[in-house]
Amino acid sequence: MSTTWDPTAYLTFDDHRARPFHDLLARVAARSPRRVVDLGCGPGNLTTLLTARWPGAAVEALDSSAEMVEAARARGIDARRADVVGWAPPPDTDVVVTNAVLHWVPTHRELLTRWLAALPPGAELAVQVPGNFAAPSHAEVAALLDEPRWAGAVPPADGGVGTPTEYAALIAATGAAVDAWETTYLHRLTGPDPVLEWIGSTTLRPVRDALGDDDYAEFRATLAPRLRAAYPAQPDGSTWFPFRRIFAVARV
Ligand SMILES: C[S@@+](CC[C@H](N)C(=O)[O-])C[C@H]1O[C@@H](n2cnc3c(N)ncnc32)[C@H](O)[C@@H]1O
Repeated sequence: MSTTWDPTAYLTFDDHRARPFHDLLARVAARSPRRVVDLGCGPGNLTTLLTARWPGAAVEALDSSAEMVEAARARGIDARRADVVGWAPPPDTDVVVTNAVLHWVPTHRELLTRWLAALPPGAELAVQVPGNFAAPSHAEVAALLDEPRWAGAVPPADGGVGTPTEYAALIAATGAAVDAWETTYLHRLTGPDPVLEWIGSTTLRPVRDALGDDDYAEFRATLAPRLRAAYPAQPDGSTWFPFRRIFAVARV
């Protein structure tokens, strides 16, 4: 079953979530690519940065979520519903961007190798995945899901994400040039239970799908104080939320 997404909830933190996309794109050198593809485009707000940077390119986007594709199309993006697992680059693809997507795809290492083998010389593949699965925002969810009340209700979503070195080695082994790094962003969030709100629009989507409304409300209510303890509100009401992310840009 594919995860259901809420584009409006996802966009609540759009400024914070855009930051890694800008940092990723800053390391892509292409000047006049023929085709640019955004894999897992979400609501398309960041895909518009690709059309703005490369107005002469055919920019296309795909996402497995019907809700996200609809939101992207409403922005004028050429988006369609598809799973990245079955995607292969058309021959004129010069830039592929996939931002905060591949941690949802356990086979993503094979995909990276396959895509790099299929891309034309000079093409660039830019990837960003969260690397914060050991952080309390995920560890508290995993610990709660392990408790008897919830055990087995939802598969753990650890993402199978690697280190920058692992991705660099994987990419280098294909013969492509690689630039890989990690950054821990420090997001300053506001409002009540902001970390719960943040993960509610991403990490917790499969939990919500699996549990249904009533059980999910109970799950959230149990999780909320644990996240408040891990990410305490400051006297001014703001909450610091460190978030590690892994980046790799490959050039064929
Ligand atoms: C966290 S959002 C990121 C959206 C956008 N790239 C961004 O940076 O804002 C993850 C997106 O990946 C999509 N996604 C997850 N698994 C996918 C798959 N196997 N194929 C295509 N899209 C997928 C989801 O539907 C969701 O829109």
